Amino acid sequence: MTYTLTTPLYYVNDRAHLGSAYTTLACDAIARYRRLMGDTVVFITGCDEHGQKIQRTAEAAGLSPQAHCDLVSAGYQQLWQNWQISNDRFIRTTDPHHRRIVEQFFSRVEANGDICEGRQQGWYCVACEEFKDDPAEAKQPSCPIHHKPLEWRDEVNLFFRLSAYQQQIEQLIRRPGFIAPESRRREVENFVAQGLRDFSISRVNLPWGVPVPGHEGHTFYVWFDALLGYLTALLSPDETLDLEAVCQRGWPAQLHVIGKDILRFHAVYWPAMLLSAGLPLPERVFGHGFLTREGQKMGKSLGNVLDPQVLLDRCGADAVRWYLLRDIPFGDDGDFQQQRFVDLVNSDLANTIGNLLNRTIAMARRWFDAAVPSPGEGAGTGHPLAVAADEACRDYHAAWQRLDFRAAAEAVLGLAIAANGYLNDQAPWSRMKQDGQREHVACDLYAVLEAARLVAQLLAPLVPQMSDRMLAQLPGASAPWLEQLRWGGLVVGAPLPEPAPVMGRLELEGPL
Ligand code: MSP
Repeated sequence: MTYTLTTPLYYVNDRAHLGSAYTTLACDAIARYRRLMGDTVVFITGCDEHGQKIQRTAEAAGLSPQAHCDLVSAGYQQLWQNWQISNDRFIRTTDPHHRRIVEQFFSRVEANGDICEGRQQGWYCVACEEFKDDPAEAKQPSCPIHHKPLEWRDEVNLFFRLSAYQQQIEQLIRRPGFIAPESRRREVENFVAQGLRDFSISRVNLPWGVPVPGHEGHTFYVWFDALLGYLTALLSPDETLDLEAVCQRGWPAQLHVIGKDILRFHAVYWPAMLLSAGLPLPERVFGHGFLTREGQKMGKSLGNVLDPQVLLDRCGADAVRWYLLRDIPFGDDGDFQQQRFVDLVNSDLANTIGNLLNRTIAMARRWFDAAVPSPGEGAGTGHPLAVAADEACRDYHAAWQRLDFRAAAEAVLGLAIAANGYLNDQAPWSRMKQDGQREHVACDLYAVLEAARLVAQLLAPLVPQMSDRMLAQLPGASAPWLEQLRWGGLVVGAPLPEPAPVMGRLELEGPL
């Protein structure tokens, strides 16, 4: 099956921060899991480069908007490469072929009678690029997200007839699984219940945008253009550009992962636009929470922004991935706490999992000629660790279906804890000193090594580099992943290399 998933297309008003890295690495974990499950994955990320916010930022930097966008979006691409993000596409909304897709899409919507002229009056947040529905009574209210003053707008522009889609959208958001988690679905339900209002899709006097064909002086509202980036991303630049072709290239998306602040755009406006253009709807929109740092909102003025590149350089990708995916329930807000981060990585990855592998390989090498010991009849699927592994796999896959990274990580960790416990109970170091216990020890070590191999396989989407380092020390036959997850894959008699640490302990001096 083709599994298309997307991150939001990030604004290039600034460099990436931990929030953008969070969404991207969560999507990367999903993309890796789906690939391992045998799907053909199209993992899309990219940059959203039009609109007033970008135009103003470029002006302030003394650059042309295009030069500014080139610079920042190159930074994003480099960052994701450094993090070894496995995206298949990187779309920029200033890509020339994107403009043609926007034009085609607009003509369909217009031909369908869903474009009309209207007057838009209201308070606008440039940082959100959004009109705010209910600003407080104050003369110049501020944005609840950005805490910046809103700007009063009064202009005549083009509107999309969102109100015509009230019933269809109501039906859609009732569809089980369309919006997750459930709390976010209720939020959208309340919004829709107030009655959908047409929204403006063009701006006048804003040159930094895609011109609206047939409407001199208008450029598309940045959100109209940006959402269409998900479609353009599926088409190669040289392809004869027909919107219909997206349906053969992986549309509809199985999943849009976004932050909770942009849920309405994805769960209401976007489906209505697609309905109007006669294109299929995405299967699922997942709205995750916001990250804070040591209990405080991250912001430049507070001087507490976490730079993903610094984080990567000082801690490594796997440590950060593990912490964010294992500790923060996906969907809820989360707090980045440095001490907790260090403690979790050291205890879960370096101690529980790393030491398990290290000490077991060391014992097998010492007592069994540096090779995987033969378990005899004793380490079949009835072995307590085989049973634990089976349970872990079941919980793990179920967790992925819900995008519950935390439960998936806990399932793997649980297996490693069970293997450590088993080793301690059986105490092979004592048995080896007793007569007639060699076969028993061989069987125990085989079972523990096999559990460690499964742990390594299950870690692949979560902490891919660590998983590779573990598997390089555990000889298994090459086979598709789902077969690798079956108990008994470790090759008896195969040489075991000198154990090498799979995760160094994090020792951070000073704040990140
Ligand atoms: N350009 C739009 C998206 C268009 S999609 C067709 C946009 N860009 S953004 O760069 O401002 O935000 C990108 C994502 O980062 C959003 O999903 C937003 O929720 C997320 N985050 C911004 N700050 C965040 C945190 N502090 N924590 C977690 N995610 C946060 O919106």
